[in-house]
Amino acid sequence: MPRVYLETFGCQMNELDSELVAGRLAQLGYAMTREAETADVLLYNTCSVREQAEQKVWSRLGELKKTKKSRPGLVVGVLGCMAERDGADLMKRMPVVDIMCGPGELDKLPELLDNAVRTRASLNGDQSASQAALQGNTSRRSQTLAAAEDRLELLDLSRTISPVDPDGSHRSAYVRITRGCNKFCTYCVVPFTRGAEIHRPPEHIIDECKRLAYAGVVEVTLLGQTVNHYRFEHGASVSVGGVVQPQKGRTYKGSHHRDAFAGTSVTTFADLLHQIHEQVPGIKRLRFVTSYPRDFGNDVLEVMRDSERICRYLHVPAQSGSDSVLKRMNRGYTVGEYLEFLDRARQFLHQPEIGRPLMLSGDIIVGFPGETDEDYQGTVRLLEQSRYKNCFIFKYSPRPGTVAYDKIPDDVPEAVKRERNNHLLSVQARIGEAIGNEQIGQTFDVLVEGLSQKQLKASGLTNAARKPRTIEVTIGGSAVATAPVVEETAEATGPVQVTGRSDGDLIIHFDANDSTHARSLVGSIVPVRVESASGLSLRGCAIDS
Ligand code: 5AD
Ligand code: SF4
Repeated sequence: MPRVYLETFGCQMNELDSELVAGRLAQLGYAMTREAETADVLLYNTCSVREQAEQKVWSRLGELKKTKKSRPGLVVGVLGCMAERDGADLMKRMPVVDIMCGPGELDKLPELLDNAVRTRASLNGDQSASQAALQGNTSRRSQTLAAAEDRLELLDLSRTISPVDPDGSHRSAYVRITRGCNKFCTYCVVPFTRGAEIHRPPEHIIDECKRLAYAGVVEVTLLGQTVNHYRFEHGASVSVGGVVQPQKGRTYKGSHHRDAFAGTSVTTFADLLHQIHEQVPGIKRLRFVTSYPRDFGNDVLEVMRDSERICRYLHVPAQSGSDSVLKRMNRGYTVGEYLEFLDRARQFLHQPEIGRPLMLSGDIIVGFPGETDEDYQGTVRLLEQSRYKNCFIFKYSPRPGTVAYDKIPDDVPEAVKRERNNHLLSVQARIGEAIGNEQIGQTFDVLVEGLSQKQLKASGLTNAARKPRTIEVTIGGSAVATAPVVEETAEATGPVQVTGRSDGDLIIHFDANDSTHARSLVGSIVPVRVESASGLSLRGCAIDS
């Protein structure tokens, strides 16, 4: 039984893709492993969003040159956005790569893998012959993304959902609701690597949530590149291989509940959230990422406000605080419109008095071409006004194939990018700290994930040091859920520190009586009063509800 090591780079969408691939391979008899050294197949699910992410994969592949000489039977595969984008070039530069499979063709991976494993076996370790054979095999590359869409729904539908481990790991899961992106922000590769926006049928999504809840999952994060654009037209759907599919390429601005076209019933994002909330009470936390700042209707905010298990958390990237930069980025909104949206969201959802403040997070790119000091100061002001609990800050990275790469010279010097990046990080750290301090004295419902890092260290257990276990879906580097387990601390006596998150995604630590108590708390929701804050990490004390 070939052993497969799968490592994931990049975004949550990639993590979910890896989970689906791992589940499918496990169904087909491959054994997933966390140990690259003993694996027969090494798969890297890659990211192309920034150059730095690609560099990591290149260096991983570079390291494999030697390994492959000593283990000629090893099969190496590159999955994800780099495979879609770099294609033949990557194969040429890295002859160690046997298989490439873009995100739009992952359903074909088992076939490609089977082919490669057999070829390797039959070649008796003759590496050059195997490379030639494999390089001649053009079916390793995608045909078109469009052709892949229908088959991809089948991959999502075939998701293996195994019961949650008794130790409480895998309590959180991602569920895809939309694939691809139609926005074409000028700096971004995603519309090219993941293709056009397409929405999954609501019944498939709800069914997946039900199956996850049945297996013991308590937190679901819905995924889409522009998640609030979700819109499924039932009247326009067609059936492919017994699977209901939406008609391609039809997405609409705004979110009118019922019917843009006579006889067509529409499920909007607000409808979808409401339906999942009502039909799957076992999901105690429902979240979604990533929101696009435009086209976010009050209907969604109303459903969020009126649904106790939908989190008061929004990840809504602004990217810049300058109107002219936003225009060059093709974001389609102004700073004023962005801030208006945050105000509106806060009016609906910010309720600290009932322990449910709205928490926001964002993404910012510094050093986009033409960004002046004045533009940058606008971004600093935007950060101050937005008051994100955390913000991902990136230096602009020109990506071949994008409009910005082709048409807008990358004219901000690296040193300036770095300086703005560091400065903005310090601005955000100050804001995060202030937000943390504001929470002292408040009580939050905390979904317990497991032992805190501090406790793991005190017990001599870092995540890396934990003994590897063979579980059905084991993904090298990033597991589906990262709850630290408690089983290994059975001998610990006295209080142990556990960690969890509020529904606004604040990290909160508190003490359980002992390790047995800690174990029993994992996956449950405990009211905790916050007593101190260190940055965004809060410490509190469980209170009797
Ligand atoms: N350079 C820098 N950051 C980028 N992002 C996307 N493309 C680029 C790029 N070319 C950032 C955006 C996006 C996040 C996922 O990655 O902020 O929201
Ligand atoms: Fe990329 Fe813009 Fe689409 Fe986000 S919305 S995935 S930044 S093109």
